[in-house]
Amino acid sequence: MTAKTRVGVLTGGGDCPGLNAAIRAVVRSGKADAEHAYDFIGFRDGWAGVVADETQELTLASTAGILHRGGTILGTSRTNPYAHGKDGTAAVKATLQRHHIEALVAIGGEDTLGVALHLHNDGIPVVGIPKTIDNDLGGTDATIGFDTAVQIVTDAIDRLHSTAESHNRVMVVEVMGRHAGWIAVQAGMAGGADAILVPERRFDIEEVCTHLRRRHERGRSFSVVVVAEGAIPAQGTMHTVQGTGKDAFGHERLGGIGVTLEREIEQRTGFETRATILGHIQRGGTPTAADRVLATRLGVGAMQAVAAGHFGKMLGIHAGKVVEVPLADALREPKLLDPALYETAVLFFG
Ligand code: F6P
Repeated sequence: MTAKTRVGVLTGGGDCPGLNAAIRAVVRSGKADAEHAYDFIGFRDGWAGVVADETQELTLASTAGILHRGGTILGTSRTNPYAHGKDGTAAVKATLQRHHIEALVAIGGEDTLGVALHLHNDGIPVVGIPKTIDNDLGGTDATIGFDTAVQIVTDAIDRLHSTAESHNRVMVVEVMGRHAGWIAVQAGMAGGADAILVPERRFDIEEVCTHLRRRHERGRSFSVVVVAEGAIPAQGTMHTVQGTGKDAFGHERLGGIGVTLEREIEQRTGFETRATILGHIQRGGTPTAADRVLATRLGVGAMQAVAAGHFGKMLGIHAGKVVEVPLADALREPKLLDPALYETAVLFFG
């Protein structure tokens, strides 16, 4: 690449703690590269900012002091430049040409990086950084935001344990996890959950209730049930409410299965039951140390990929090392739970 290379940066999809750490790492490591002397332009609100040409300068000064801050200084959205048959590539190309941008770093989950792959296939130089609290992206052992979400949920389960015990109640904790139960299982294990329901395994409500009854027969007076928002009952076993609308990528808005479970468990077992939906609390606030370090390493890796001209790649972490994987491979299918991990959690259902 020639001297003074302009790089565009955006964050898309659901926000999560660690996005600012990634933005900072991209800018700081790029600015430290004396050979290329990069300049950075941030796009506002994900792909929306690229399509509408809404930008924000990213400098050493504007990215200072953000390492520990949750959210994203660039804003985000679930805008899909290809929605309703639109020619997203033409719109993106026009903006990049206007600003003489020679590379684009997209920080996002399956949808944002899906757009990045589409653009790459159309000849636009793009590199991806994986983030999603759901941890369901292929090509990486961990995504930015996941560790923080697990810690937030673990803290919540700890708190719910003491009130469950005081009242002899069943506490249902609904957590995020659309396709995969990573948060439910990791936080459920860390918090000592007595049952964990995940999208990967259809559950039978009667089996769950039998398990809770047996537990209580053995002298336990309370239980904690963790359920991922995307958990699905076995066919014909429990009626659930449909999602309340779709986003620009066609995903149903989830949430509420915890309330259905509260009612079903209370009616079937007679145990007093309460549901807590943790919702967007899981995506808010300061990132854990692990997420800050992951975001920093992936941000630095992204700029190394840009410098090497390795476009169409996503940075990932594998066996402790930062790796470059083709976006197409990372996005082929969601990364679902390791069955062995779930079986380990089951051993402690009590
Ligand atoms: O980003 C992933 C996620 O947190 C999912 O777990 C959840 O279903 C979804 O985002 C919620 O999205 P929104 O913030 O748009 O309601």
